[in-house]
Amino acid sequence: MGGEAAEAAAGRAARIAPTAHLLVTGGAGFIGSAYVREVLGRRDGARITVLDKLTYAGNRANLATVESDPELAPRLTFVQGDIADAPTVEPLVAAVDAVVNFAAESHVDRSILDPEAFLRTGVIGVHVLLEAVRVASADRAVAGRPPVRFLQVSTDEVYGAVLEGRSREGDPVGPRSPYSAAKAAGELLVGSYVVTHGLDAVVTRGSNTYGPYHHPEKLIPLFITNAIDDLPLPLYGDGLQQRDWLYVSDHAGAIDHVLRHGASGETYNLPGSAEMTNREVVAALLAELSKPWSLVRSVPDRPGHDRRYALDGSKLAALGWRNATSFAEGLAETVRWFRAHEPWWRAAKSGDWDAYYERQYGARLAASTEA
Ligand code: NAD
Ligand code: DAU
Repeated sequence: MGGEAAEAAAGRAARIAPTAHLLVTGGAGFIGSAYVREVLGRRDGARITVLDKLTYAGNRANLATVESDPELAPRLTFVQGDIADAPTVEPLVAAVDAVVNFAAESHVDRSILDPEAFLRTGVIGVHVLLEAVRVASADRAVAGRPPVRFLQVSTDEVYGAVLEGRSREGDPVGPRSPYSAAKAAGELLVGSYVVTHGLDAVVTRGSNTYGPYHHPEKLIPLFITNAIDDLPLPLYGDGLQQRDWLYVSDHAGAIDHVLRHGASGETYNLPGSAEMTNREVVAALLAELSKPWSLVRSVPDRPGHDRRYALDGSKLAALGWRNATSFAEGLAETVRWFRAHEPWWRAAKSGDWDAYYERQYGARLAASTEA
């Protein structure tokens, strides 16, 4: 017995059919594009519409392996647009069985410099999606059809820094950056629509994710690409902050598992497979690249820097999900991918990149010390 039959026998009958039509918002970003590749590649007959604004972080090239594949391409539709724009969103939501919302401004450091877009997408955008799901679900109920399921992709950062133990889903949220505050607000809106309007919705709180197509503004891809060019690696503060690293295909797979099996109104932590300090991560990637530690510079810390995140994953495990990729395997694959895709990351480090880099790191690197 396999697939659907095994799942049904284990009491986990899928709430979303394998051939469902999904609206994937933010599907041209890092994790969203991995999700599109994962679902279309693994589930025959599944269809996806991507809605993506193509901000600096969105890249149509992230979907190139799907769009150039004659079997997969006919099952993908791409729409460029904003989740905060109701006239764009409403007809797209009315045509699908479920919405998976990856769309967000995702970089904590940018939220400290320019928070406005984080609030617009993370709060107004989520609200526009929820209203469209509410209306479409009501229309479907009249026709005796199940509601449109909504999955909000959220983050472990909503718990704030966790110095000891592990965060469980029932713990209070305490976001400490504009990014995580916007993500927490989005989650609270989802909960309010479940209670007030009976929406069929689930929330995932994912851990720090890494892998191919990761935008080079983030720690691991920034340090890999800077190290390839023998540029300084700006490590914040003492570098003893802790994160739990989750390989991108595991994150995408876990989201799909929760979409298909999670109970409405519930939130699920998605932990990683490797709790490490930033120093340990940087040492591992330098070893993989055969580059020296002398590239690392200690720079003034991120304001409000969360010291540690750690998730309890028992609720997800009880739903039947296990991560497949160790940090050693995931990092080796990530380094291999970045080495093989120089044009991709050099393009991401062009245009406004130099101005951003100077604003973010110019004064810090000038004040840097040996790490
Ligand atoms: P990303 O920045 O790589 O991608 C975000 C995508 O959303 C981009 O394609 C962008 O163009 C699109 N987008 C932004 N605003 C939009 C809007 N208003 N309308 C439509 N599209 C818009 O981000 P990511 O790292 O792939 O993160 C995806 C989601 O996962 C986010 O919601 C993030 O909060 C969450 N998350 C990320 C991580 C991580 O470590 N990267 C961990 C946990 C949760
Ligand atoms: O925990 C989940 C979150 O992980 C997601 O919700 C966010 O979208 C995602 O960007 C990520 O947030 P972080 O702030 O943890 O990731 P980032 O890669 O920016 O930083 C990882 C760690 O490395 C953090 O402790 C800050 C540190 N760092 C980061 C950068 C960019 C540095 O020391 N130097 C750097 O230049």
